[in-house]
Amino acid sequence: MIADVVVGLQFGDEGKGKVTHQLVRNGNYTHVLRFNGGCNAGHTIYHEGKKFVTHHIPAGVFYGIRSIIGPGCVINPSQLFKEIEELEEGGIKVKEYLRIAANAHVITDFHIVEDRRDKDIGTTRTGNGPAYRDKYARKGVLALEIPELEDFIIDVFTELHDNPEFDNIEVLCEGAQGFGLDIDWGEYPFVTSSHCTTAGVIANGIPHKAIRDVWGVAKVYETYVGAKQFEDEEEEIFDQIREVGSEYGATTGRPRQINWLSIDMIKRSAAVNGANKVIFNKADILDEVGTWCIYEGMDAHTFKTADDFENWILHEVEDPEIIIFSRSPEEI
Ligand code: IMP
Ligand code: MG
Repeated sequence: MIADVVVGLQFGDEGKGKVTHQLVRNGNYTHVLRFNGGCNAGHTIYHEGKKFVTHHIPAGVFYGIRSIIGPGCVINPSQLFKEIEELEEGGIKVKEYLRIAANAHVITDFHIVEDRRDKDIGTTRTGNGPAYRDKYARKGVLALEIPELEDFIIDVFTELHDNPEFDNIEVLCEGAQGFGLDIDWGEYPFVTSSHCTTAGVIANGIPHKAIRDVWGVAKVYETYVGAKQFEDEEEEIFDQIREVGSEYGATTGRPRQINWLSIDMIKRSAAVNGANKVIFNKADILDEVGTWCIYEGMDAHTFKTADDFENWILHEVEDPEIIIFSRSPEEI
């Protein structure tokens, strides 16, 4: 088995959907596996000129590849069926390719009602946290218990390991959220309730020795949605980046708080994830606003051109084999 991984190096919304979509198109994957999160995630994907926002469904369905919602995920069945319908209406054959791990957990109506009362974290109000809490309290509901999901249910071990094709299996593991929201590595309690790092991949049944590439995805600036103060209020430039970069939540429509790239965060998250390939998205946005800045600890470094900015990063982040600055939604 071979597995490649796509993870977020910042606070989600780094453009993982775009990267995954491109990798699936260019690769020889037999499976795509979503390994964490629920419908808190929103992946914006442009496929054959149409815009799709997926929450639960892995990107493999766009190319007729078996797409698994893994055991590390939580699922809202009615939201899932809405999403299946939307994609099918857009011409994507979801039902044929979507599979759900029997041991994934279910987001119930109670979880959603509870999450809607959240005032402290600024959650997506999709029931994510309460569903994971009940999972770990051993009071959760498994996907296999939901009759409506029956046609999609698989055992991940049977599908990926107990399979005569084992040697030919290539899985693209699609992460949701990012390092800064990870339950263990984010700034607790302003985090989500799942494992957003490469560790989550292994917990979903992918053997560590199968992992080939880990693609860490970042943006050339940071965004965050949630209750903590993240953006420096004085800075008008962040309003500009928000508008030019359309930085509004894919799931909730909330304006994302903006800040400059933290090089320390990139180094930390690339290291913990074992990222050997790093993509910085939305370089075109800073080109348009014409300002480039990076935080290193408490110091802010400003640059006159995109080249200076990029060269500084390339010099600082040495470990990954490949670092790409992306300016187009189609390119990785
Ligand atoms: P929850 O995952 O809905 O519990 O929300 C916890 C925190 O993670 C909040 O700050 C959310 O805004 C944030 N969050 C969850 N999912 C995403 C995502 O896909 N992109 C960006 N932020 C997210
Ligand atoms: Mg997203």
